[in-house]
Amino acid sequence: MKVNGTSFQTIWPDPEREGVVRIIDQRQLPHRFAIEDVCTVEGMATAIRDMHVRGAPLIGAAAAWGLALAAHAAATNAAANWYEILVRSAEELKATRPTAVNLAWAVDRILTAARACRSAGEARERLRAEARQICTEEVAACAAIGRHGLRLIQEISVRKNGSPVNVLTHCNAGWLACVDHGTATAPIYAAHDAGLAVHVWVDETRPRSQGAKLTAWELGMHGVPHTLVPDNAGGHLMQHGLVDLCLVGADRVTRRGDAANKIGTYLKALAAADNRLPFYVALPSSTIDWTLHDGVREIPIESRAEDEVRFVEGLCEDGVVRSVRVCPKETRAANYGFDVTPARLVTGLVTERGICPATEDGLQSLFPEHRAGGAGGRPRPTC
Ligand code: MRU
Repeated sequence: MKVNGTSFQTIWPDPEREGVVRIIDQRQLPHRFAIEDVCTVEGMATAIRDMHVRGAPLIGAAAAWGLALAAHAAATNAAANWYEILVRSAEELKATRPTAVNLAWAVDRILTAARACRSAGEARERLRAEARQICTEEVAACAAIGRHGLRLIQEISVRKNGSPVNVLTHCNAGWLACVDHGTATAPIYAAHDAGLAVHVWVDETRPRSQGAKLTAWELGMHGVPHTLVPDNAGGHLMQHGLVDLCLVGADRVTRRGDAANKIGTYLKALAAADNRLPFYVALPSSTIDWTLHDGVREIPIESRAEDEVRFVEGLCEDGVVRSVRVCPKETRAANYGFDVTPARLVTGLVTERGICPATEDGLQSLFPEHRAGGAGGRPRPTC
């Protein structure tokens, strides 16, 4: 996507310095667009844990590049125990953020590639290629989600005789959360680029304000009309006919279609159901955890620092970004990062292979290779 007219992805290897991976430091947005160099796997683990990079698909891509950096260092130091180093690094990366399954998915895929190597030098080349390939595939998946999801917006647009389609989204499931395009935003960008009138209600998404800081910024950069709303406004907007479609991302989706996403998503799904509004979850297949069934019971939910709730951060009149406490000094806070929307509240899942009902059969119609018993075959698009 473009930033002030220049195309960017969220993560890329420095073409001139082997052993350097570049990321957009999202902690500084929207006030400053800053690129950070990451040179070690430890640095990448910190970038993921402290949310320089965030969003499920991007966390996966970042972990893949982190392991490529570990392999680079092992080869440079001629480390005989290069494979053990990679396994240790993999564990460290997996522990950074527990909910987004893309992280473990990417780490396991890179380790599989490493196991096929006979030397640190070979692993350096192979892991770099694999990390690049993961990014290429994630970009293609998000572009396909955009093409499939566009249909949903087109249908509403026709019904409304071309009046703006109002989409409500939560958190940042945009290109900043992926390598490019976004998941929930991909159909929105596709609709906007196709000339459809679309307007986005952007949930501010406390406590880290990914909606206010990131979604608003990237929609603005792309010229998509949008309005920032407090997290609690969605139900009111829906009751008054101001929302046509809810479209959110996901951090982990179970084989039955339960979807973990940023805390507060479940409440939007409840309000959408009460108002008979379509509620879609957009995700690449790297977000599906085929080992889990019941999302509410089985998906691990990240608990983050209390101070993310107790403090808010913003740009002051003097141009300095500061953090201020919003509660009494002694007040304790709970900071669950995600919640799970049960499949029964999800109208459909928008994936790179098409749109399907949020059910085990629905997902398996698109991904037959994950049928229980392992029967493969070509995907059959549904709904
Ligand atoms: O805690 P974050 O900012 O990493 O959470 C991100 C989200 O919940 C996104 O909506 C989700 O990862 C979907 S990303 C395309």
